Amino acid sequence: MSNPFSGQSPIPGIKNVILVGSGKGGVGKSSVSINLAISLKEKGMKVGLLDADVYGPSVPRMMGALNQKPAVNENGKIIPINKYGIKVMSMGFLVDEQQAVIWRGPMLFKAIDQFFKDVLWEELDYLVIDLPPGTGDICLTIAQKVPVSGAVVVCTPQNIALVDAQKAIDMFKKINIPILGVVENMSSFTPPGSEVSYDLFPKGQLNTYLSAHNINKITEIPFDPHVAVCSESGIPFIQGKPESPAAKAFQRLGGFVSEAQLT
Ligand SMILES: Nc1ncnc2c1ncn2[C@@H]1O[C@H](COP(=O)(O)OP(=O)(O)OP(=O)(O)O)[C@@H](O)[C@H]1O
Ligand SMILES: [Mg+2]
Repeated sequence: MSNPFSGQSPIPGIKNVILVGSGKGGVGKSSVSINLAISLKEKGMKVGLLDADVYGPSVPRMMGALNQKPAVNENGKIIPINKYGIKVMSMGFLVDEQQAVIWRGPMLFKAIDQFFKDVLWEELDYLVIDLPPGTGDICLTIAQKVPVSGAVVVCTPQNIALVDAQKAIDMFKKINIPILGVVENMSSFTPPGSEVSYDLFPKGQLNTYLSAHNINKITEIPFDPHVAVCSESGIPFIQGKPESPAAKAFQRLGGFVSEAQLT
């Protein structure tokens, strides 16, 4: 399937759309999306963050913006919530966190459409999109709606995660979305005060797969319990613990994306 929007943008103010996806749930997509967005912003970029996880939006909580309701301007455009200098939009701002969104294809399609057409993003250097787990409707809808500069695939080290990451990579390839690379999250754990690091998950074939397919590993993010502590308290981790090895690893991702030659 070709990407019908390559070269032209229905959202002209947005220079680059970056997808953050993985085939598997719970591997750290939202954490990566948020910290990538903050890292790009710290480099002086204008950044938006779209939580496209319509069924399980977690960005409002993780960005400390729970229960915020976006205003609508006189032209009926939704004004994204400004948090930590980033324009944030999520289904979580429109429905309660506990309320289940039970939608089928056409409604989903409309909601995604609104996220692009009816939200006042204005000028952005990057719109980071946090995708839901899997390779379903939402990813395909987004790929058909906007020109995507590239995708970052998040994977944990074990083969079970790799199998799903491969599916995400295959999907991005099929719809002609350039793969910027893979982020290996929770790659290892070094207990406080120790020099020894441990593998939380058995190391699988990720490195072999990446080199066989000529895919770049952008960064390895260690497991750090503060990542979860920060997301529970609504503080982006790289601002909460900027000197930690995990924060430095997230910042490497920001550096990589900001230097990538995107089309
Ligand atoms: N490097 C890390 N170290 C420690 N905890 C982490 C790390 N990365 C993510 N986490 C934690 O793991 C949990 C899942 O992360 P996150 O919500 O970012 O994953 P996800 O892929 O977006 O999940 P979902 O598929 O449900 O959307 C969260 O509690 C998060 O704080
Ligand atoms: Mg998520």
